[in-house]
Amino acid sequence: MRTRATSVREAVRDAARRLREAGVPEPEASSQILMAELLGVPRGEVLVREEPLSPEAAGRYEAWISRRLRREPVQRILGYAYFRNLKLYLNEDTLIPRPDTESVVEAALERIDARGHPCRVLDVGTGSGAIAIAVAQERPACEVHATDISQRALDAARRNAALNGTAVSFHLADLAAGLHLPGKVDLLVSNPPYVDLRGAERRLAPEVREWDPPVALYSGEDEYAFFRRIFDETPPLLKEGADVVLEVGDGQWERVMELGEARGFRPLGTRRDLAGDIRAVLLRWEGAR
Ligand SMILES: C[S@@+](CC[C@H](N)C(=O)[O-])C[C@H]1O[C@@H](n2cnc3c(N)ncnc32)[C@H](O)[C@@H]1O
Repeated sequence: MRTRATSVREAVRDAARRLREAGVPEPEASSQILMAELLGVPRGEVLVREEPLSPEAAGRYEAWISRRLRREPVQRILGYAYFRNLKLYLNEDTLIPRPDTESVVEAALERIDARGHPCRVLDVGTGSGAIAIAVAQERPACEVHATDISQRALDAARRNAALNGTAVSFHLADLAAGLHLPGKVDLLVSNPPYVDLRGAERRLAPEVREWDPPVALYSGEDEYAFFRRIFDETPPLLKEGADVVLEVGDGQWERVMELGEARGFRPLGTRRDLAGDIRAVLLRWEGAR
C-alpha cells in the first residue's frame, strides 16, 4: 500500500512536537526556520504549504531536526546566521552573532553620526565580523578595522565582508597589540569575552556551552579581564575624544563604567537590548592626563 507523502506543513508541525517533547527551547521557531531555509521560502509560508515534501528534502530536514534534538543551534546547523542586513557564514571559531549585539551596533552608528564623517572605527574581537561589517555596510564613509586572536575566525570574517560587498581591514592581534593603523581611531567598539569560567557549566545553555568557541565566551576567572585590558591597552590607538562602545554581560555595566573612569574614560551612557537589559556602555577617551 502506498502511503501519502508528508506535506511541508505536517513535517514542520511534527518536528515542532518532537522538539517540544524533548525540551528543546523555541521548538516552533527551530522547526519553521529550518524548513524555510531548506525550501528557500519565507518562514511565514511553511505552515500553510500543503504540497508534499520531496524525499530528498524530507531526508535533509530529518537530519537537521535530529541535530537540533541534540541541542545544536539552528545557525550552526545551517552554517550561517542573519545579523541586521547581513548573512554571515560561521565556522567553529566564530561565535553566533546575537540579536542583542545589534543594539551595540546601533549605539556605535549613533556615535558615528554624532561625530560626522569621515570616521575610523576599530572592532576588537570581531568573530564572524558582525559588528565591523554591519558598520562598514551601514556607514560606508567609515574606514573600518577589526582584530581577532583567531585566524580561523578572521578567515570567516574576511569571507563575510567580501560576500556582503564591504571593505573591512582585518588584523590578527591579541586585543590590539602591535596594530599599525593609518591614523588614530575615532570609535572603538567591542563585544569581548565576558563570561566568568567559574559556574559557566551551570549558567549557560547547551547551545552556548557546547557549540560556541570557548575563546569567544570566557574571560578566565575575572569576568572583567578583557574590559580592563581594553582600558589599559587601547588608549595609544585612540584620538583624544574618541568614542568607545562596549557590549557587557548582565549586571556588568556599572563595574565596567567604573573601570573605564578609573583609566581616564568618561562615561557617556548605556544602551539597552531588545529585552530591555543594559547591553552596552558608552564612554569617551579624554586623552592622557
Ligand atoms: C564574544 S565574541 C564576539 C564576536 C563578534 N564581535 C560578535 O559580536 O558576534 C569575542 C571575540 O573575541 C575574540 N577574542 C578572544 N580573545 C581575544 C584576544 N585576546 N584578542 C583578540 N580577540 C580575542 C574571540 O575569538 C571572539 O571572536
